[in-house]
Amino acid sequence: MKSFYVSLLLLLSLLIGCSKDDITSPTDSAFDNASASNGGIMYDKFWSVESDFDQANVNLAKFNASADFFRCKQCHGWDLLGNTGAYVSRGPKTTRPNVSGVNLFQSAQTKTAQELFDAMKKTTGRRDISNDLSTYNPSTNNSAGDQMPNYSQLLTDSQIWDLVKFMKEGVLDVTLLYDATVTGTYPTGSFSISNVGKDGNATSGKTYYTAECASCHGVDGKLIALEGMSAGKFTRKKGNEVQHKIKFGQLGSAMSGHFDITISEMKNLYKALADTTSFPD
Ligand code: HEC
Ligand code: HEC
Repeated sequence: MKSFYVSLLLLLSLLIGCSKDDITSPTDSAFDNASASNGGIMYDKFWSVESDFDQANVNLAKFNASADFFRCKQCHGWDLLGNTGAYVSRGPKTTRPNVSGVNLFQSAQTKTAQELFDAMKKTTGRRDISNDLSTYNPSTNNSAGDQMPNYSQLLTDSQIWDLVKFMKEGVLDVTLLYDATVTGTYPTGSFSISNVGKDGNATSGKTYYTAECASCHGVDGKLIALEGMSAGKFTRKKGNEVQHKIKFGQLGSAMSGHFDITISEMKNLYKALADTTSFPD
């Protein structure tokens, strides 16, 4: 009798195990087939050539004319921390909306892929594509311009899954790359970074740099002026942004993404670029 119960238990646990693992819902496969790399490119500019967006799309002129109203990074930041991260001082202008108060990094960690997908598909509280952004003025009329676009009008489900995959699996945790100091509140706060590369290994980082970056940026990072800065200075100042550009590329330039870079490789690279002797201003 005892062995009967043991076998029954075994059979039951087998059945439960199977039903959990072997039945794949359509959602699971859409997520599994999605590309975090393409999602990261789209997070920067979803209508870019690099993301394979249809360059004959009817809304392309509007996206280009009001780019910051459509780019995820403008409202959520390169660090996904919104207006409490590096964008604490990035106030609105007639050409760009307010930065969102949502902590998208945290949402991506805590929400399921389906919940993130549903947030992207949501139509209520979203800005319709017909909204005239040329009249946006943050001091008089800002409600619609600041709203998240109604992406269900703009993106296919598979493009949205790519973005979801990026949020869940492609994003790097910037707190592992540097210490951020944020003071004050949006939009008058200030942001600075220190301890760049943290406990990373500068020697390994320099090896990575020499193999992957030096051919274009020069051994000391000074060959291409980046908004007037060397690669070292740019990283020390805008570490929030550089990690995204290294992983997903600088769109519209020769610099393509290092999509498989790991957080420890990135940390090592940051540690190397923190050194002002090897990588001067
Ligand atoms: C014009 C600004 C703006 C743009 C552009 C924008 N968002 Fe948002 N987003 C918001 C605001 C504001 C909220 C919070 C209010 C809400 O959920 O409606 C939000 C909420 C979200 C949420 C839900 C988070 C949560 O925890 O509820 C997700 C996911 C998200 N955005 C992802 C994206 C992605 C991915 C893109 C680019 C394809 C993007 N957003 C572009 C402003 C923007
Ligand atoms: C094929 C050449 C090439 C390679 C390889 C390359 N870059 Fe770049 N990089 C560029 C160009 C071109 C730009 C854009 C300059 C511009 O926009 O004016 C750029 C931009 C940048 C920027 C500025 C990004 C910004 O937001 O403006 C940084 C930082 C940077 N590269 C660092 C690196 C690092 C680190 C590596 C190695 C992991 C690397 N690059 C590899 C060519 C390259």
